[in-house]
Amino acid sequence: KTHYLTDYQPPAFEVESLFLTFELLPNGTRVTNRMQVHRVKDLSAPLVLDGEGLELIQVDLDGVALMPTQYDVTDTQLILPDVPERFELEIVTEIDPENNTRLEGLYRTSGNYCTQCEAEGFRRITYYFDRPDVLTYFTTKIIADKQDNKVLLSNGNLVEVGDLPNDRHYAIWKDPYKKPCYLFALVAGNLEEVEDTFITRDQRQIDLRIYVEPKNLDKCEHAMESLKRSMKWDEERFGLVYDLDIYMIVAVDDFNMGAMENKGLNVFNSKYVLAKPETATDADYEGIESVIGHEYFHNWTGNRVTCRDWFQLTLKEGLTVFRDQEFTSDMLSPAVKRIEDVKRLRNNQFPEDAGPMSHPIQPQSYIEMNNFYTMTVYEKGAEVVRLYHTLLGEAGFQKGMQLYFDRFDGQAVTVEDFRNAMADANEIDLAQMHNWYTQAGTPTLKVEKHFDAATGTLTLHCEQSLKGQSAHAPLLIPVLFGFLNDDGRALPVRPGENSRNKVFETEKGHLLKLTTLSETFEFTGLSQEPHLSLLRHFSAPVNLEYAASDEELMMLASHDADSFVRWESIQTLALKNIEDNVARFQAGNGMVFSEHYQQAFQAVLEAKGLDPALKALAIGLPDLPYVFEQFETIDVDAVLQAVEYQKAQIAQTFSGALDKAYLAHCSKKAYCYDKHDMAARMLKNQCLAYLAYGAEPVVRAVAQYEQQQNMTDVLAALNALNHLAVSEREACLSDFYERWQQDTLVMDKWFSLQARSESEQALQDVRGLLEHPDFNYRNPNRVRSVLGVFGRLNMKAFHDASGEGYALLAEEVLKMDKINPQVAARLVTAFTSWKRFKGHRQDKMQSALQHIAADKALSKDVYEIVSKSLE
Ligand code: ARG
Ligand code: ZN
Repeated sequence: KTHYLTDYQPPAFEVESLFLTFELLPNGTRVTNRMQVHRVKDLSAPLVLDGEGLELIQVDLDGVALMPTQYDVTDTQLILPDVPERFELEIVTEIDPENNTRLEGLYRTSGNYCTQCEAEGFRRITYYFDRPDVLTYFTTKIIADKQDNKVLLSNGNLVEVGDLPNDRHYAIWKDPYKKPCYLFALVAGNLEEVEDTFITRDQRQIDLRIYVEPKNLDKCEHAMESLKRSMKWDEERFGLVYDLDIYMIVAVDDFNMGAMENKGLNVFNSKYVLAKPETATDADYEGIESVIGHEYFHNWTGNRVTCRDWFQLTLKEGLTVFRDQEFTSDMLSPAVKRIEDVKRLRNNQFPEDAGPMSHPIQPQSYIEMNNFYTMTVYEKGAEVVRLYHTLLGEAGFQKGMQLYFDRFDGQAVTVEDFRNAMADANEIDLAQMHNWYTQAGTPTLKVEKHFDAATGTLTLHCEQSLKGQSAHAPLLIPVLFGFLNDDGRALPVRPGENSRNKVFETEKGHLLKLTTLSETFEFTGLSQEPHLSLLRHFSAPVNLEYAASDEELMMLASHDADSFVRWESIQTLALKNIEDNVARFQAGNGMVFSEHYQQAFQAVLEAKGLDPALKALAIGLPDLPYVFEQFETIDVDAVLQAVEYQKAQIAQTFSGALDKAYLAHCSKKAYCYDKHDMAARMLKNQCLAYLAYGAEPVVRAVAQYEQQQNMTDVLAALNALNHLAVSEREACLSDFYERWQQDTLVMDKWFSLQARSESEQALQDVRGLLEHPDFNYRNPNRVRSVLGVFGRLNMKAFHDASGEGYALLAEEVLKMDKINPQVAARLVTAFTSWKRFKGHRQDKMQSALQHIAADKALSKDVYEIVSKSLE
């Protein structure tokens, strides 16, 4: 069944309050749901409640038990045809948390109970209005055996605890804020806690608690510090203060996504909580800080103001990702963070937007909502929020946020409501922004420049297009830019007569506002033809087409004022070199190593005073998914050869400089999560990765592995060795296994290293990993670390010419679909771009998809992706 945005109807009933009682048992948990309801419209409409996988025990209406003839139960609904204007309803159901392998609703992991309700998991707990625009006051009573459930948690404040006969006890939690049921949470089990406090700016003391399994108590410090930094930052940057007396975070090993912002009781994938220097990398530390921030920031953008329906998901996710990006940017390096986010967007969201699952940030329809927690809704959504920020400036954006909360606190609203708040607070018209919400695809922005030396006039001709859409509604595209002379110095920007109302000075620099499909901008008073620095800060999520010469790119790479453009320019040189070699390979010619790229590479590596992290990013090659995106038809063999060649040439040509930079950034200092230390590690490890493609591939890597300084360096060493068929690789991998066999999160790294290896053995190794005693289909992280990594990151083995990689993943998807459809649906996306591949690969990917589609019992999740891909 397909759901459409245009079908939205406001709810017919309001829930005044809800009292939930849980009698927890692993296989037969009894849930009693008592609610006060009244009708708000549709006098004759029946009462329809959502429910799936529930065993219905009893229904009472106003204290009277109903006969089965007085209601209807289907697979997905409980229907009471005849209810009064105002009534109390009590429903008793039973569920089986132990055998809940979908990890939606209430489930048990490592002996602990926890919940995941977003998007539509609450209906797997009890019959209810499982839609975000029904908000109510929740009270939750949890009853459980004491021995196994020392801790009993739910949303809000703890109001009562007590003992019960037979070694049982109970706790009652009351949430003073109205919320939709997707924000409900319950946790119970034998967890240990780490405690701290935060004093708000209005001097209230908030209790902070992180609950983990006892063995993980020594890995919570970074998460707690991250939480305190998030709370402080949201007060300082957004003026938003926490609103309950307690804030709890629970870490569980089995979790479908990253984390969940349940009111006052966040449930996290333990990957985004647990860290110590020996077990977690810099990327893990950064991920933890940003996800802790993300979930905390949801308390205002998501919880206090929530979504009217799931088509509005980007309202809370795009905005909250934007906020967490700004948080990381303020905590670490803004330039590095921006480049990392652009890379993530291009590697993951651009391909999604170019494939059969392409959808606008506000999807217009869906079969399974869980499939729309996408890079598009989240990351492109955040880019669109950033457009408002670029257009309005920090102060204007904050004015808009203030009005948004003034108007909508406690309500479930839409993306239009957000846009109107931004527009009204700043008294400007932002109506055109809506086109970003309703049109899918990555826009192309084509820019051509003409210089008239006689008059000193520069014209920029800009055209926007959306692939495959001949007449799209024009997008409002803000382009940050600058003019440079041959030495890289800034030239003045003087808009001509006809362009004055389209060019602005902003706090981020000169801004050109493109509002139509095709537009010409004029600049006067230029004594020489300027070089163009375009799309500074990556000011809009577009593909920029501007034919810069190699000389221009080299100049921008060394001199532009904007770090993003500097990085982008050298990346473009690398990409041009790779594209050139792909064509050469296809024509049966030898490959070449671009002189201009070499010069830019050397200049950047040896630049004085440049942040080592920016050096590391600049000398790195574009990631394979983005390289693939450059081709209409992907020739896997040619691209892999060209990239391989590029790495080998870099290693050979710059071995001396790379080794020197490597040694210069080694340090004996104890691990510290600090941007300077992280930058040094990043550059050192980028050099190490290249050195492994050179003449002495293992020397540095083995030495670095043996030092066991911290997980960042250990993993970088293993990564460097990972493509080599040498005994040192095997020795280090088995040493690593011996050391960390007991640590789930570290073992995920061991599995994923092998799943993404470029070695000839990789396909066979992956089969072996699936048989490994530590492999576990019920743990999503473990499944993703093998199968997710294999399909998404191992371009060589997954696209093996034999087609065996495809066949393997197809079988595993089918197996996984029976266990956990949400995870299976993510794995199957590795096939969605099948039409882009050349010849036999295209055929084999299609066959794999057809094989999956032939399964008669597919989940909605996998069905939606497979059927849309084959359409
Ligand atoms: N709201 C969560 C977050 O972004 C994600 C929950 C996703 N859940 C799901 N079943 N798709 O923080
Ligand atoms: Zn979120």
